[in-house]
Parts: sequence; structure tokens; C-alpha cells
Amino acid sequence: MANVTLRNVRKTYQGGFEAIKGVNVDVADGQFCVLVGPSGCGKSTLLRMVAGLETVTGGEIDIGGRVVNQIEPADRDIAMVFQNYALYPHMSVYNNMAYGLRNRGMAEAEVKTRVDEAARVLELGAMLERKPRQLSGGQRQRVAMGRAIVRQPKVFLFDEPLSNLDAKLRIAMRVEIRKLQRRLKTTSIYVTHDQLEAMTLADILVVMNGGQVEQVGNPLAIYEKPATTFVASFIGAPPMNLMSIGSDEIKSQLGGSATDAGILGIRPEDFVITDQTPAGGVALPLTVEAIERVGAETFIYGSRAQDAQRIAANPGELPPGEVIVRVPGTEAPAIGAKIRVAAVRTKLHLFSGDGRTRIEA
Ligand SMILES: Nc1ncnc2c1ncn2[C@@H]1O[C@H](COP(=O)(O)OP(=O)(O)OP(=O)(O)O)[C@@H](O)[C@H]1O
Ligand SMILES: [Mg+2]
Repeated sequence: MANVTLRNVRKTYQGGFEAIKGVNVDVADGQFCVLVGPSGCGKSTLLRMVAGLETVTGGEIDIGGRVVNQIEPADRDIAMVFQNYALYPHMSVYNNMAYGLRNRGMAEAEVKTRVDEAARVLELGAMLERKPRQLSGGQRQRVAMGRAIVRQPKVFLFDEPLSNLDAKLRIAMRVEIRKLQRRLKTTSIYVTHDQLEAMTLADILVVMNGGQVEQVGNPLAIYEKPATTFVASFIGAPPMNLMSIGSDEIKSQLGGSATDAGILGIRPEDFVITDQTPAGGVALPLTVEAIERVGAETFIYGSRAQDAQRIAANPGELPPGEVIVRVPGTEAPAIGAKIRVAAVRTKLHLFSGDGRTRIEA
């Protein structure tokens, strides 16, 4: 077991593209760290640098108190699980898991002990003689995990290991991975672009954007207090509503404390449909444009089109965007209905006009 520390890590690819622009992350021993961010933000690059599959342009990668920048991947004591885990098709499940250990010259008795233990943990015991083609997608994924587990590494590295699975299996495997990691207590770094996977798996969540860390912390703390509008709209689905404060009615409702803020954020679930205006809160008139019923809850898409004239008279403001409201149950207003929604003061998120700074009200 080991901690993993990234100190001002940088990566410039051949050709001059700067993919990682100085990243600092501290993963404590036994923690589950998730790197999340949009496609191309540098998640795989960072993970591959920890694995030793990419050279490090600047900064230090420290595993268990040892700087590993110059250490070969095989000597870093890590095991990696990829999206395309490519099992050996002609080998049995047992041999797929045993292969890497035998390659390292491990005695057959110890190989058997480790493979049997991994098979027990992953519930693959009854399938050890099968070939990969005789397994379901989820079972194959578990064999790939087994190959990593038998190594008994200090650190697990996962790069989107579930993205080839269907939605139901993804959820089941997500729970399995979390249970397994809790049991083994192996420090883990897990890459995904799925914010729900990130929220549910992480002890420590790292939100990345354009080669930089946008925010690091406990997932719920990030959900409750996103540091930037990027994080606010990336974490949470449907995303947080973000509105320009400009010179419109929102500003007059917010009063003095909002003078530094340019953007107001309200999560869809923090709106209620009401004619009241909560003290210090914000109320918005909306025209209902679309309704989505997903069973336990309903998403109402409204427009603030009533403001169109006023905003036309104040160029420089954002156009009146869609507002998403999330209500429990299946009851919803009719399309075209004029409604009023409101959020209380404690549920408001204020950001600077460029979205880069959170302002505490
Ligand atoms: N070998 C390379 N040479 C040059 N640029 C590269 C190379 N590999 C990746 N990049 C660029 O570096 C950036 C980060 O790539 P990376 O694969 O780390 O993204 P990612 O966050 O893992 O994205 P995804 O979610 O799509 O897997 C991208 O803009 C990519 O085009
Ligand atoms: Mg990637």
C-alpha cells in the first residue's frame, strides 16, 4: 500500500502540445481517487504518467515516498485496468490471471493461491476453465480486474474500465469495484468522464479541465460548493442552471451582496413551483417548453422569454436561456403554461462574471 503524490506535474507531447499544465494531487494510502473531466482534458495522459507509460515533462510523481519519474513501469508496483482490457482469447480464465505472475517467475503454488483468492473475491471460481468468449461482458471485466488483483500491487490504476458495458452492468460493476477496493484497501486512481460514476466511487474527486485541476475534494463538498461554473455545470445531472445576473430582475432580487457576482447558479432540484418569493431568494417567471417524466421525478424545461424585450434593450447580457426544474413525482404543468419558480437564499451559488471564482453570499 502507498500514497500517490503529484507535484506540479506537466506533460508536453512531441510537437509542443501541452496536455498537462501543472497538476498537484495528493492521494492518501488506501484512498479511492477519481479523475473526472470532459474528453481531451488529460485524464489518460495523467494516469499513464503515473503508470510510467508516458514520460513526465515536469514536476514529480511520488509513489509510497519514492519519486518514480525515472522508474520503469514494471518496477513501480502498480497494476492497470484499461477500457480495452483484451484478455488472451485462447487461454482459460485461470491462465489469463496466472499469466503475468508466471512471466515474473513466480512459483506455481503461489500463483495458484493468488488466482484462487482473486477468483473467490470476484466470484469467478466456477468459471476458471472457461475461455473469454464463454463469458458475459461483466464476467470478462471481472477477469481483467482479477489480473490486476493477483499482482497485489501498491496502487490500482483504472482508465474507464466500465465504458464498454451496458448501462445496467456498469452500475453493478461500479458497486463491485467500490466494495472490492474497500476490502483490499489498495490506493486507487480511477479515470472516467461519467460524473455519476465519479461521485459514487470517489473518496477524493479531481475535476479536470484543459490539462488543469479545476477543483479537488470530497465529492459531496464539491457538489455543494463548486468552485467555478465549469465544475458547477459538470458535476450534477441535469446540470446546474447558470444565469447572467447583468442588470435584470435577478440583480434587484439579490440585492447588495451580489454586486461582485456576474453569474447566478441554481440546481434544478433547488427550485420549487410557487407564487411566494422566499426572503433573500430568487423567483423567476417561466414559460414551460418541454416536460420529461423519468418515473420518480420530472424535469421541466422553461424559458425566461418574458425577459426577451428587456434583454434586447440591455445588450451584453446573456440571452434568456432554458431553465431546468426538477420536481419529485410525475405531476407537471402543461406545455406553454406560465409558472413561477423560486429558490431560497441558501441554495444560490454566486460566481464572478468570468465563472472562475465562487463568491460566498
Ligand atoms: N501521443 C500524443 N501526442 C500528442 N497529443 C496527444 C497524445 N496523446 C494525447 N494527446 C492530446 O492530449 C490531450 C489529452 O489527451 P488524453 O488522452 O489524456 O485525454 P482524456 O482526458 O483521457 O480524454 P478521453 O476522455 O477522450 O479519453 C488531448 O488533446 C489529446 O489530443
Ligand atoms: Mg482517456
